[in-house]
Amino acid sequence: MAGSAPLSGPSGGVALVASGSARGEQQISNDQLGQRVDTNDEWIRTRTGIQARRICGPDQSLSGLAADAGREALSMAGWDADSLDLVLLATSTPDDLFGSAPKVQALLGARNAVAFDLTAACSGFLFALITASQFLRTGAMRRVLVIGADQLSSWVDWDDRRSCVLFGDGAGALALEACPADQDGLLGFQMRSDGSRGECLNVPQSRDRRPLVDGSSHQGGHYEPIQMIGQEVYKFAVREVPAILKALLQDTATSADQLDWLLLHQANQRILDAVADRFAIPHSQVLTNLANYGNTSAATIPLMLDEAVRDGRIQPGHRIASSGFGAGLSWGAALLRWQGPS
Ligand code: UT7
Repeated sequence: MAGSAPLSGPSGGVALVASGSARGEQQISNDQLGQRVDTNDEWIRTRTGIQARRICGPDQSLSGLAADAGREALSMAGWDADSLDLVLLATSTPDDLFGSAPKVQALLGARNAVAFDLTAACSGFLFALITASQFLRTGAMRRVLVIGADQLSSWVDWDDRRSCVLFGDGAGALALEACPADQDGLLGFQMRSDGSRGECLNVPQSRDRRPLVDGSSHQGGHYEPIQMIGQEVYKFAVREVPAILKALLQDTATSADQLDWLLLHQANQRILDAVADRFAIPHSQVLTNLANYGNTSAATIPLMLDEAVRDGRIQPGHRIASSGFGAGLSWGAALLRWQGPS
């Protein structure tokens, strides 16, 4: 599915105004993980680029992280929480199975905003950004907060060295505002899903039948920890991410040398480098903070974006090609133009 031009209807622009982020308060190094599983710093660093990850402390929660990131974005934008029309939370790890966005809305005091969750694992933030943008383009809404947040530490099998070394907890937020079409900050997008390959990476439910009343039963169960076939996910990423980025660049008539930044889902430094090399994008233009956080799922893209905005690497007018990929399987890409606060 491509989306650079709407099929019909009004078509305003979407301004990328401000960002924020939050992270788990406990920093766990590779060496520390070696206390738990048979691994070591050298293996993790050379195979993934990860040096440490941030894990939520006892008083932190998914909703709290998401609200902290959202507050930072509101503050950068200079917006009152009351002015928001929508709080869209991309997460696969809500505090509440019914969704955590309303809790985040309450924590922010965004009394006029509708709030709901969107689940698409590591593609969740990009899918949420694209979804929220539709409300802004049509004029149905004016101001939106999109948050990507995940607390994967609650769902990792901490005795499985093949997966536990990869993940961490974080949140990132982006404040979006309707704007004239010629100032549009979402220049194009692509989205894909392939559920037939979903078992490469999932959090499956264990189900059993339990008696309900005479002659009837109900299903009960619980979720298992994260299961991942790492090599399959790796192959998927290095095949599909370049393909979807190529489609994005073609669709928007953009060449790789017109990009200021490549902002990929932070899963593995080798994946980032392989994708950059396919487009001959210098590694200095590839945004990465994987070393400090590992894979924070829906949070990686906005967390990285926020750090690069705050340290001045991303400037108003910069063009950013972004791609998210992961469980589902799902993957997507978007060409963004950063505006910043006015
Ligand atoms: O959002 C998407 C999330 N998932 C991903 O992005 C995962 C993508 N996949 C990857 O990043 C890589 O496949 C991994 C980093 C997960 C694994 O790297 P790999 O180069 O594919 O390693 P491997 O699975 O082929 O394992 C190589 C060896 C095995 O030992 P043997 O069988 O060759 O003796 C593993 O048992 O490395 C061993 N190993 C480890 N050793 C030390 C696996 N995990 C570890 C570990 N420490 N943590």
